[in-house]
Amino acid sequence: MAFIPCWAWVLVGYLSTSVVGAPNLSSFYPPLWEESPGQFSDYKVENGKYIIDPWVYTSRMGMYKILLSQTATYFAKFAPENEQNVLWGLPLQLGWQFRSGRSADPTRKTNCGYESEDHLCISADSWWTDINYFLCAIPFLSAVDSGIMGISPDQVTLLPPPKDQQRFCYNVSGCRSSHPEMMKQWNAFYQYLKSPSSNFDEILRYLWIAHTSSLEGSLGNFEDKFLYYSEPEANFEKSWCVVVNYLVASLYPPTLIRTHIFEKGLPPRVLLKTDIAPFIKGFTPLQNVVVLSLNGLRKLDESTDSESLTGWETLMKTKTARKLVLLLMEIFIEIAT
Ligand SMILES: *[C@@H]1O[C@H](CO)[C@@H](O)[C@H](O)[C@H]1NC(C)=O
Ligand SMILES: *[C@@H]1O[C@H](CO)[C@@H](O)[C@H](O)[C@H]1NC(C)=O
Repeated sequence: MAFIPCWAWVLVGYLSTSVVGAPNLSSFYPPLWEESPGQFSDYKVENGKYIIDPWVYTSRMGMYKILLSQTATYFAKFAPENEQNVLWGLPLQLGWQFRSGRSADPTRKTNCGYESEDHLCISADSWWTDINYFLCAIPFLSAVDSGIMGISPDQVTLLPPPKDQQRFCYNVSGCRSSHPEMMKQWNAFYQYLKSPSSNFDEILRYLWIAHTSSLEGSLGNFEDKFLYYSEPEANFEKSWCVVVNYLVASLYPPTLIRTHIFEKGLPPRVLLKTDIAPFIKGFTPLQNVVVLSLNGLRKLDESTDSESLTGWETLMKTKTARKLVLLLMEIFIEIAT
């Protein structure tokens, strides 16, 4: 046992110097971050309301950009340049979905997300971006509701997609009545964030509770979308839903640099019928192993009736174990890329 921490620490030293060696954080930002709106006045105004179309990639990303900048002050005590803001995980995930073609129309009945003029279109048929809606619109509107965005709750409205309009909510009062639990948990996160004595672990706890409520309130409503995907991609989506629970239990800190590194393991394009991990052509060994192990973890979870998750949760109660897992994940990524 003593042997493992020994070589692990050498790698930690190596990892931290490689991060210090890359001081310009803008290289870690998601695609088109600079081009996305960064303040409310960048959006259209009608009847005194800001009108935001979350079905356009840059507009949706702009919601995150405003959210990140409005919460920066609460993370300033942890690191400069907002690097430790735990909300970075959300825009980086959307960025990965966009980059990998997962925000496009999986049915291919429209050009949404494909042709150059529709490149920025986000499809309401995309399982990924439907779920992301509840990890974007809800945290965003809840932040407005919590008073940290500098505008009043009735000053902003989101536009509906061309279909399935009844599955989403579009303003603070609408989301409060259709998704009260999500709005409540995100609100609790912001209230804690605002307290001067906030500590990082506790922030993560509130974040993951809120994140989980967004997933619990939305995953069940979009299972019909699995049908639009190849079997490997649909399996990957289902595994993703399971694996998130393990990530939550480990209180994974979705900060900027860490999440950027973590994303190296995610599949760079939508999986095809012929893709069999770990032999997917064009994927790095890490990406192949990630697809394989995510599916493996889901099988383990299903075959043990989630006893494996319960065990994991117990293990993750101690800070030392959480740190070790994080460390091993980073070493693994470093070795496999
Ligand atoms: C970081 O890089 C971007 C372009 O990639 C540039 O606009 C910005 O000024 C750089 N920031 C610093 C602090 O060097
Ligand atoms: C909020 O959206 C709902 C529909 O989701 C609508 O009925 C309501 O009028 C909207 N409220 C405001 C203040 O815009």
